[in-house]
Amino acid sequence: MIKSGGLVAFPTETVYGLGADGLNAEAAAKIFEAKNRPSFNPLILHVNSREMLDKVAVVEDERIEELIKNFMPGPLTLVLPKKGIVPEIITSGHPTVAVRMPANDIALKLIELSERPIAAPSANSFGFLSPTKAEHVAKQLGDKIDMILDGGETNVGVESTIIELKNGEFYLLRPGGLEPEKIESITGKLKRKEDNISPNSPGQLKFHYSTYKPIKFLDEDNISRITDKDGVLFFRKVLNSKAKYTRVLSEDGNLRKAATNLFKYLHELEESPAEIIYVERVPETGLGKAIMDRLTKATNKYLGNE
Ligand code: TXA
Ligand code: MG
Repeated sequence: MIKSGGLVAFPTETVYGLGADGLNAEAAAKIFEAKNRPSFNPLILHVNSREMLDKVAVVEDERIEELIKNFMPGPLTLVLPKKGIVPEIITSGHPTVAVRMPANDIALKLIELSERPIAAPSANSFGFLSPTKAEHVAKQLGDKIDMILDGGETNVGVESTIIELKNGEFYLLRPGGLEPEKIESITGKLKRKEDNISPNSPGQLKFHYSTYKPIKFLDEDNISRITDKDGVLFFRKVLNSKAKYTRVLSEDGNLRKAATNLFKYLHELEESPAEIIYVERVPETGLGKAIMDRLTKATNKYLGNE
């Protein structure tokens, strides 16, 4: 299906991707169509080997070598200078390409059998919740794509961490499934994306990853006003027993577990009869950064719409 230019959704360790032949501009264009995605957003190329990575991107820094050695396959995306073989539609005309090697056997096998890098954004409609199960993909894109490979639930649960090396310094373009602290042991302190002048990631848009129902942060005020019509995503425990539709991200406060459950529980609350979804903040260390990034963007969509 990939070789003939079709769209195949597949599991990765982070979220499900919507894949197409990464060297075929026409196939990649179908991704934007299916997702309803503004076409100025570049796509990540998924590779299964260092050889394939070298075919599409240039590696010429010791620290990049170290990152590849330590974290690939894994939830890390590197933005690197691109090679000529990569179609413009993949990079939106920019001189860099985003590359990652997913730590998922089905994904790696799919790339191997396709014999080319696979371009894949998260397999959701643009701006909505990312999919961590095949059912989530079917719900949003089922009638628009050729095939879904069902690999069960993804285990990281949030998208990859994206970094870029620019003029000798590393920038964090999107917090994600690999803790920034781990990356910094190799790169030194990551600069924040605000200081960065590279192309805008949807990951950098003010709102994104949202539910189709209103979603707000839980705070001191609204927590006492919760009713049985509300849904609440708590961090460690249920804090108001009037809430009827509730989920707890991780009872022992484990941020890795919380990240794994994040989109799954948001999908469940979105499908529940709850009219509004409240979400509790989590500590912003380790994977907490990626979780708060997703929640902030989800709630921003409904700010001022009360
Ligand atoms: O975990 C993931 O990364 C998942 C799975 C499917 O691999 N993919 C994913 O793709 O999250 P997507 O398209 O939803 O997000 C990719 C991000 C976008 O924000 C895009 O703008 C950014 O990567 N990106 C891609 N190429 C870039 C480039 N050359 N420079 C800067 N950002 C880039
Ligand atoms: Mg996405």
